[in-house]
Amino acid sequence: MATPILDKESLIPGKTSKLVLHAPEIAAKARPGHFIILRTHDKGERIPLTIADADPERGTIIIVYLVLGKSTAVLEGMAAGDEISDVCGPLGRPTHIEKGGTVICVGGGTGIAAMHHIAKGHVRVGNRVVGAIGARSKNLLLFEKELTSFADEILISTDDGSYGRKGLVTELLREKLEQDGSVFEVVAVGPVPMMEAVAQTTRPFGVRTTVSLNPIMVDGIGMCGACRVSVGGQTKFACVDGPEFDGHLVDFDELKRRLAAYRAQEQISFELYGKAQQ
Ligand SMILES: Cc1cc2nc3c(=O)[nH]c(=O)nc-3n(C[C@H](O)[C@H](O)[C@H](O)COP(=O)(O)OP(=O)(O)OC[C@H]3O[C@@H](n4cnc5c(N)ncnc54)[C@H](O)[C@@H]3O)c2cc1C
Ligand code: FES
Repeated sequence: MATPILDKESLIPGKTSKLVLHAPEIAAKARPGHFIILRTHDKGERIPLTIADADPERGTIIIVYLVLGKSTAVLEGMAAGDEISDVCGPLGRPTHIEKGGTVICVGGGTGIAAMHHIAKGHVRVGNRVVGAIGARSKNLLLFEKELTSFADEILISTDDGSYGRKGLVTELLREKLEQDGSVFEVVAVGPVPMMEAVAQTTRPFGVRTTVSLNPIMVDGIGMCGACRVSVGGQTKFACVDGPEFDGHLVDFDELKRRLAAYRAQEQISFELYGKAQQ
């Protein structure tokens, strides 16, 4: 069903935007951890994007995307008032949220937006939420204001030291785990190398670590097998069994290999799209 874009906010000009979509049926059912699959137009590719927030009363959902290739570039070319051809969701299993004490929610890049929805869910059940967010530079840090409005504590790092602590967010995470024995779970959403590093950091502490995987998806309902991942030696389909899994059991090397499988074709498609726009 055609889905109107009600509002568009550029977060990093030309690279990352936040869209408010009118999708009442999805908004009514969306829980933290859910995602949608959309096609910008009827010949478009199906791309999965996490529901970064939902407002059942207004009938809206929020998505935040990074322009990586053709489909996200087409999305970036759309504006408030335009219609997305179809939006399917909510998909995936919602985040398992239980009351347990302190949870550290780690986010990197556009993953910060998705993580923010999960963090809100933890606040709702009464957990103490520490948000740990990192970016290459201050101008690439997303959702700080939103997180600050409800999180109990915020840890910030930038690779270049332009804001917060200079270095990687995993260094802040390690320090926090050393200081605070009440942490019962760490949740990480962001680039695959970051989630892998988070899992490596938490392993010696024996703290449950949940990562949100982003393999290539096509149907999003468990039929095509595109999103196959290995977790604890078992084959899982991220769209129906995940996308969240135990980070200590995920085969990250396989995930990285499978994510790169179509890079040459994606590059050609992006270049052809760029030329067609000139
Ligand atoms: C459950 C889930 C939630 C996601 N949530 C977000 C989000 O909230 N914000 C965001 O910016 N990105 C998100 N992604 C990643 C997003 O789907 C890809 O960046 C997007 O599909 C790239 O499409 P493209 O045509 O612009 O780029 P392409 O040039 O086609 O691909 C660039 C890279 O994106 C990945 N990719 C390509 N096609 C797909 C696909 N069909 N499914 C998954 N990954 C693909 C591959 O790693 C590829 O190398 C999510 C992915 C998954 C699986
Ligand atoms: S996307 Fe097809 S099985 Fe998961």
